[in-house]
Amino acid sequence: MSADTFDIQAVSPLNEGLEEQEGSAMANVERSEFVLEVSNFSVDYGVDENMVRAVNDVTLHLRRSKVLGIAGESGSGKSTLVYAMTRLLRAPGVISGGDVTLNFANRGDEKVFTSLNLVTASEKELRKVRWSHVSIVLQSALSALNPVLRVGREFDEVLKTHRPDMSKVQRRARAVELLTMVGLNEDRLARFPHELSGGQRQRIMIALALALDPDLVIMDEPTTALDVVTQREIISELHDLRSRFGFAMIFITHDLSLLVELADEIVVMYAGEIVERAGASELYEAPRHPYTLGLLNSFPPLHGPRRELTGIPGSPPDLSDLPAGCNFYPRCPFAMSRCENEAPALTATGNSDRSVACWLHSSDSSVPVPVELSRTPNPARNSVTSLKERP
Ligand SMILES: Nc1ncnc2c1ncn2[C@@H]1O[C@H](COP(=O)(O)OP(=O)(O)O)[C@@H](O)[C@H]1O
Ligand code: SF4
Ligand SMILES: [Mg+2]
Repeated sequence: MSADTFDIQAVSPLNEGLEEQEGSAMANVERSEFVLEVSNFSVDYGVDENMVRAVNDVTLHLRRSKVLGIAGESGSGKSTLVYAMTRLLRAPGVISGGDVTLNFANRGDEKVFTSLNLVTASEKELRKVRWSHVSIVLQSALSALNPVLRVGREFDEVLKTHRPDMSKVQRRARAVELLTMVGLNEDRLARFPHELSGGQRQRIMIALALALDPDLVIMDEPTTALDVVTQREIISELHDLRSRFGFAMIFITHDLSLLVELADEIVVMYAGEIVERAGASELYEAPRHPYTLGLLNSFPPLHGPRRELTGIPGSPPDLSDLPAGCNFYPRCPFAMSRCENEAPALTATGNSDRSVACWLHSSDSSVPVPVELSRTPNPARNSVTSLKERP
């Protein structure tokens, strides 16, 4: 593992109980339906006049065993959000506000739940939950895997560190089981990372992330560097693995079409803010934000009818010089005069469980909502059926 990822060599054994301590960010709680709760979370880079806000006032909740997709162009703050959430953010990045709470069942006593505020947690508390309760897979498996370690050693080190009760034979058996889960033959354990394809390395990272049965797996663009066929295969495998093992997942990508295949719910980020949140199929079939519509028109769908790929004109804003009103104003084909100086807040739309930050959907708007942004989703279709439709 490189220092950029979870430093697994430095993580101490964690067979100790998760006891409530005075002054601790950890507390025993009632079972929560949410594995992760993020509220009013903000992250800055730099200080004083050089400061830019890369994540602004983000609130989101992830239910157990569900997949939350985060979409947005490069630079929209996706990685900063998950790095800061898991306290892996490096200087000059700083958390400037909000809370992130991880709720998980204790090992050995699934009825006792612990809640940990990741923002205020100590390094010791963070070590207890990393890998065991929350794990992360990054875009480049080549830099994440240690080039001088055979793959088998990576698995052995993780298991030895976190499950010291396992024997060498048990660790080997678990490594083989994990590789099989991600569609790889056990002979890969004897290989070095450079002897494997990009897809195989990324599968190994996914297997490592699942090694300790975490409650939450975060994937930051894990398939972006891979060809389309391998991307499809991995997305399909992740879907099956999630169904089998019940972990919750945050899956980040700039390709919204890909996300629709896997996610239960999607948030779309622009300039560090959530601009739309909806169920995956609702968002795909009936986007409400002009930026979501632009993203959908930027990538070919993996299946179903083809769409004309018009993309989004212009480029993402400079965070040090944001527009006065709506951040998307300079690029928005539907912009109105109020958009130039008034910033829309993320607001629930109609009576549905979705939100959008756009004046077009404001109750006091006198402008008719464009037809592209007012479609009715088809309730019969969802992301699961779309996966099953695949050849
Ligand atoms: N180390 C850094 N110093 C200053 N700004 C940064 C740093 N890392 C990222 N940023 C800025 O934060 C914003 C969000 O970046 P990032 O979270 O990497 O976006 P994404 O993952 O969506 O591509 C970008 O505008 C980027 O320029
Ligand atoms: S608020 Fe205005 S500029 Fe912003 S996305 Fe909506 S219509 Fe476009
Ligand atoms: Mg990123």
